[in-house]
Amino acid sequence: MRHFGSLLLGLAVGVPSCLACGGCYGPTSHVEHVRHVKRIQPGAPNATYGPTRALEWGQVNFLHTTDTHGWLEGHLKEGNYGADWGDVVSFTNHLKQQAGNMGVDLLLVDTGDLHDGNGLSDATTPDAELSMKVFERLNYDLLTIGNHELYLAEVAYQTFDGIAKLWGDKYLTSNVQILNPSTNKFEYIGKQYKFFTTQHGLRVMAFGILFDFTAAGCIRRLKVAGNTNVTIVTKAKEMVTQGWFKQALNSTEPVDMFLLLGHNAVRSSMGGTFGIIHDAIRQAHPRTPIQVFGGHTHIRDFAVLDESSTALESGRYCETLGWVSMSGFSKSNSAWTGISPNPRGVPNPTRKATANSTSPFVYSRRYLDWNRATLEFHAVGKQDDKEFDYNSGLTTTAEITKHRSQLNLAEVYGCTPKDYCMTCAPFDSPDNIFPLLSQALAEVVINETRKDIPRYLISNTGGIRFDMHKGPFTYDDFFIVSPFRDALLYIPEVPCSKAATLLDKLNKAGASQKRNIGSMRVERDICVDPIVAPLMARDEPGHGHAFGAVTRRQVVDLVPGYTTSDDFGSDGDDTTHSRIPNYSIPDYFQGAAGFGAEGCTGTADVVFVDFIEKDVLAILGSDYSSSNVTYYISSNYTTQDFLPQFVKQSDMFQAGLPNCTIA
Ligand SMILES: *[C@@H]1O[C@H](CO)[C@@H](O)[C@H](O)[C@H]1NC(C)=O
Ligand SMILES: *[C@@H]1O[C@H](CO)[C@@H](O)[C@H](O)[C@H]1NC(C)=O
Ligand SMILES: *[C@@H]1O[C@H](CO)[C@@H](O)[C@H](O)[C@H]1NC(C)=O
Ligand SMILES: *[C@@H]1O[C@H](CO)[C@@H](O)[C@H](O)[C@H]1NC(C)=O
Ligand SMILES: *[C@@H]1O[C@H](CO)[C@@H](O)[C@H](O)[C@H]1NC(C)=O
Ligand SMILES: *[C@@H]1O[C@H](CO)[C@@H](O)[C@H](O)[C@H]1NC(C)=O
Ligand SMILES: *[C@@H]1O[C@H](CO)[C@@H](O)[C@H](O)[C@H]1NC(C)=O
Ligand SMILES: *[C@@H]1O[C@H](CO)[C@@H](O)[C@H](O)[C@H]1NC(C)=O
Ligand SMILES: *[C@@H]1O[C@H](CO)[C@@H](O)[C@H](O)[C@H]1NC(C)=O
Ligand SMILES: [Zn+2]
Ligand SMILES: [Zn+2]
Repeated sequence: MRHFGSLLLGLAVGVPSCLACGGCYGPTSHVEHVRHVKRIQPGAPNATYGPTRALEWGQVNFLHTTDTHGWLEGHLKEGNYGADWGDVVSFTNHLKQQAGNMGVDLLLVDTGDLHDGNGLSDATTPDAELSMKVFERLNYDLLTIGNHELYLAEVAYQTFDGIAKLWGDKYLTSNVQILNPSTNKFEYIGKQYKFFTTQHGLRVMAFGILFDFTAAGCIRRLKVAGNTNVTIVTKAKEMVTQGWFKQALNSTEPVDMFLLLGHNAVRSSMGGTFGIIHDAIRQAHPRTPIQVFGGHTHIRDFAVLDESSTALESGRYCETLGWVSMSGFSKSNSAWTGISPNPRGVPNPTRKATANSTSPFVYSRRYLDWNRATLEFHAVGKQDDKEFDYNSGLTTTAEITKHRSQLNLAEVYGCTPKDYCMTCAPFDSPDNIFPLLSQALAEVVINETRKDIPRYLISNTGGIRFDMHKGPFTYDDFFIVSPFRDALLYIPEVPCSKAATLLDKLNKAGASQKRNIGSMRVERDICVDPIVAPLMARDEPGHGHAFGAVTRRQVVDLVPGYTTSDDFGSDGDDTTHSRIPNYSIPDYFQGAAGFGAEGCTGTADVVFVDFIEKDVLAILGSDYSSSNVTYYISSNYTTQDFLPQFVKQSDMFQAGLPNCTIA
């Protein structure tokens, strides 16, 4: 799938890489040997301010990552999220040490979706060949699988043979199986569950439950409907009736805590299935705490399921490190051997899950921004850069730098003159990415033999995954902004009466399907990860004061970022941000080219992404069938190809190259 490499690396000849940059962005060549890079990726920004409150440490504490999608290099253009995987490796080492000193447990958990989103994971064949090695540097206690591990057979097998084998019984896939080619039988990719005792005596039973991600529930995307047919995803409703699950719950071994990991929304209202598992456990264990860690919807969220059960979701793309702590274990309700009631010298969790709770358990939750300033703040006593870094962290950072260089990810193709976001500005605003992408479609998607025929080019907003930030536009950004490879089809010379109204009709159809929970809704929210509001820092200060009146310290000039509200209220974000506006966007956008001032008069070619062929034909009516549809350029020219081509030839993106800086 990397064939555009030849197309675009060829085009790069003569483009100077990051000349004279103040905050020079990424390595150009062999930079790791000549620069004394000690932490974070070269040129990655740090946060300008950070947290003000220490973490609340309980008896059992959790650090949670989810939906990392290959972003192990950190966000090279955003100060809020500039730390890399090596920094987090060092951080978790510190926290494990702190936990040991305090006599408490700390568990590291991940809930899946390890690639599709960043060049570090997606520029290799197969995906994640190098990034997986980096990911494995973090010493997780438990992990589970995401839907992005299951679209393609080769990726599913890579997961089965790689990560599942490496982590052994820590990799939990309670409802996901794969056809083992050597036995020709379906087998669980990881383990169905794990029963273990923590360092301080708690007897834990853990499961890993993927949401109901099945081919039948999804329309065409990524060329496959849902999970690859070499895998089976058992729906939660069915899973709880299976013998192995009932037996696990009916075990005579006492259980002090259930842990549910899942690539799965923490709320049923958002398609999550934890509620089903929770209810099944409650039938057998009415009071035992159930701690839940979710993912997939790419948001920060914390839900109270009952007085002894809470659920955390920790965002996406290495922007958030989630923290949950709890206390309330004693000799009378568990085999706890650690400190009671709480570790000393640090804040402790104080909140009951519900107002009228009679359960002994209290909780805290916090969403940490993924940057050096935050990690150093919480690595108590290690605020100095030198004291903070562990050798294992530095090695990991160096490894990422090396891979980025190997993969040419820092190769610069143009200079993005300003920020363009997906939903922080109105759809037709010059700050929105879609007018720019419409222009790109119009200017570069051309079939030479039909270049004089006017054309509409329709693509889907769901295929765009990330904002474009001011600064060098690199090879990495191809994967970050538009990672999907959907081919472009066309129907020649459609009368203007139909061609000019097609976009509008598609969007209306999408909207009505949403109301009916039709295919469009399913595609965007379930089968592919959802679009959420842009959570990136933008350059302008703005908005800060209006939303800064939080109960905490007054911060002047807040940086835009997460402003989370969850079942515990609005104090979960570890660093205070100003709110980023969130405008709704339609399902489709289009470029238009070759029309005169009077617009569409006779006929126009209608070009569109392949997976909406059926919808397009339905709207055009009975005169049209699939026999009227062919590739506009070729079967291998896709939605991943037009933006890089545009950046390369656009004056707007070339003009700033000699002095291209971030922020
Ligand atoms: C697409 O395939 C054709 C041959 O089928 C090849 O000549 C061309 O280089 C490919 N295009 C890209 C972008 O790789
Ligand atoms: C999956 O689908 C392919 C193509 O339709 C088919 O050849 C293959 O036998 C199927 N595999 C399984 C395990 O069903
Ligand atoms: C649970 O275990 C008991 C005895 O250990 C047995 O009688 C009962 O049938 C089991 N229930 C289930 C649902 O397996
Ligand atoms: C607590 O309050 C909720 C709703 O207000 C109620 O449904 C629940 O039964 C109460 N629980 C207890 C233990 O009183
Ligand atoms: C990041 O910011 C923190 C707090 O401002 C500072 O102590 C630290 O030295 C910075 N680290 C790097 C690597 O820039
Ligand atoms: C943004 O708005 C959309 C609807 O327009 C909504 O579904 C989504 O939850 C909002 N996101 C945030 C983070 O507020
Ligand atoms: C669609 O294709 C069929 C068969 O190739 C052709 O007869 C028909 O005229 C085409 N329809 C339109 C509207 O061009
Ligand atoms: C362009 O369109 C012509 C005619 O429809 C087709 O034969 C050709 O394959 C298309 N692609 C290119 C790159 O010319
Ligand atoms: C590069 O841009 C920065 C900020 O716009 C400016 O301060 C600096 O003077 C410029 N440097 C050069 C060499 O043009
Ligand atoms: Zn995801
Ligand atoms: Zn997902």
